[in-house]
Amino acid sequence: MVEFAFDIKQLFPQPIIRVQAHSLRPTVTQLRHRPHPFIANPQRGHSTMPSCQLSQILDVMGKLSADAQGLRQPVTTADKLASDQVVYLMADDAAGYWAITGLLKVGTKDLFLFDQEGCCRRAKQTPAILDFYVHESRQRCGQGKLLFQRMLEQQGWSASKCSVDRPSKKLLGFMAKHYGLVRTIPQGNNFVLYEGFFDDPMTKCNSNAARELQAASRIRSQSQGHYIRHSHDQTQVSRGQANRNTVRNGAHSGHFRRDILNQDSVLGASLPTRCVQDSRVSRSDH
Ligand code: ACO
Repeated sequence: MVEFAFDIKQLFPQPIIRVQAHSLRPTVTQLRHRPHPFIANPQRGHSTMPSCQLSQILDVMGKLSADAQGLRQPVTTADKLASDQVVYLMADDAAGYWAITGLLKVGTKDLFLFDQEGCCRRAKQTPAILDFYVHESRQRCGQGKLLFQRMLEQQGWSASKCSVDRPSKKLLGFMAKHYGLVRTIPQGNNFVLYEGFFDDPMTKCNSNAARELQAASRIRSQSQGHYIRHSHDQTQVSRGQANRNTVRNGAHSGHFRRDILNQDSVLGASLPTRCVQDSRVSRSDH
C-alpha cells in the first residue's frame, strides 16, 4: 500500500473516489485569493491543498502502475489527465492507517474498429480502460474487482463494451475471471475488444480511410501471421506470442516498442492520424 506524508483520509469520504482534471492543480486565482482550509502550514503553501495532494497521489500511483507494467513512461499523471478522463482511486485503513491501494483510469475514444466480420466501424466516444493498478500487497484479493465494478456503475458502462488499451496478461486474466470475457476481436491498433462489443448497431465506416485501414491491417496480419489468423483463440492473445503490440509485457517493452513504431510509421503514412489510435506511440495523450 502507498502511504503519503499527508493525511489522505480527508480525501476519502468513501473508499473509492472519482477524480477529474478540474479537481486537480489549483488555478492561479485559487492560490492568490482563496486560502484553503486544508492549509495547515502557510510556509508550505498550496502543496497541502486537496487538489495538490490528489495530484501527488496520481503521479505516484501512475509511476507505480507504469513500473508494474514495464512501461517507460507513466500512462497516468496529474498533468496529463484530460478533461474527458476519470481516475478512480481506492484507499483503506486495513493496515491501521489510511493508504492508497489502487488506481483505475478510464476515458472515451473515437476509434475505427473492426467487427467480427472484419468490417471497419467508427466507434465514437467508446469507453476505454486506460490504466489499472492495484498495489502488489493487495493484488488477487478482490480489490481490483471492487474498483472496476464501481467504475462500471459510476460510468454506466458494461465490461463487454469497454475497449482496453493494450491489456497486460494480468488484466486479461482479470477480465476473464470476473466478467467471463475471453474471446477478443482483433484490431489494427493496440486496443483489445471483447465479443459483445458490437452488439449494438454502430456507424459503418465506408470511407477511403477505412478501406486503407483494412488494407494496412491485412499487410500487418501477413507480417504477424499467427495473430490475425488465430486471434479468436484467447490463448494466442494471453500468451502474447503473436500479438506483441497488443498485450503489455514489460519485460520486452523496449524491443517491441521499436517494432511497433516501425509498423505505425507504415500505417501513419497512409491514414489520417485519427484513424489509428495507437496508444503506445501516443501514451502521453492518455
Ligand atoms: N497473474 C495472473 N493473473 C492475475 C494476477 C497475476 N499475478 N493478478 C491478478 N490476476 C487476475 C487473475 O484472473 C486473478 O484471479 P485468480 O487470483 O483467481 O487467478 C484476478 O485477476 C484477481 O482479481 P482481483 O483480485 O479482483 O484483481 P487485482 O486486485 O489483482 O487487480 C490488476 C487486477 C489491476 C490487473 C492487478 O493485478 C495489477 O495491478 N496488475 C499489475 C498492473 C497491470 O497489469 N495492470 C493492467 C495493465 S493494462 C491497462 O491498464 C489497460
